[in-house]
Amino acid sequence: MQASRPLFIPVILGTTRQGRMSAHAAQLLVGEIGKRPSVDTELIDIAELPLTTRDAGESTKDADFSAKMNKADALVIVSPEYNHGYSGLLKHVLDSCLKEYIHKAVGIVGVSAGPFGGTRVIQNLLPVMRELGLVTIFWDVNFARVQNVFSADGKLLDETCLPRIDKFLKELLWMAKTLRQGREQIPLD
Ligand SMILES: Cc1cc2nc3c(=O)[nH]c(=O)nc-3n(C[C@H](O)[C@H](O)[C@H](O)COP(=O)(O)O)c2cc1C
Repeated sequence: MQASRPLFIPVILGTTRQGRMSAHAAQLLVGEIGKRPSVDTELIDIAELPLTTRDAGESTKDADFSAKMNKADALVIVSPEYNHGYSGLLKHVLDSCLKEYIHKAVGIVGVSAGPFGGTRVIQNLLPVMRELGLVTIFWDVNFARVQNVFSADGKLLDETCLPRIDKFLKELLWMAKTLRQGREQIPLD
């Protein structure tokens, strides 16, 4: 294992909606990941990706997004709950890669205006993660009634989410390190 190479754990902001509160959750996660030693992160905003909507799947692949997925040791996906599901554009972006994700950890952050903190969107994302070859961790982060957690300009109003984020990231980092070691040292056959 190359202990000297930092883990790379980007945060994917999974909505393009104007005024999206999920952006504040994603920024908080980027900040919390950035506090961890030997971990690099960055925000990947799906609204900024130049993917065509005139095609689907790997033929839409963006070289920069693909390179980041290749480099990643784990992903955090921040997804709002839209009619109990995820944004179609998030799925469109995720579908543009495949081999890039294999045997990498993923943690999901659900964001909702309602009281359930995106639990339904998280459940709906789990089979998608599996099919992409990602390995889900068993902790999530749930931002319920997100309008009470962040101000409109992104100030964190309620810090009770922080211990949960800490637990989530500890597990994600453990999985990221373990899977990196497996990818680098254990042959598939
Ligand atoms: C099309 C649409 C569907 C939504 N469906 C739900 C829902 O099923 N449950 C819920 O709690 N909130 C729902 N919401 C509210 C979002 O969860 C809320 O906007 C929240 O801030 C997270 O989304 P955002 O990042 O776009 O702001 C919906 C919002 C939109 C735009």
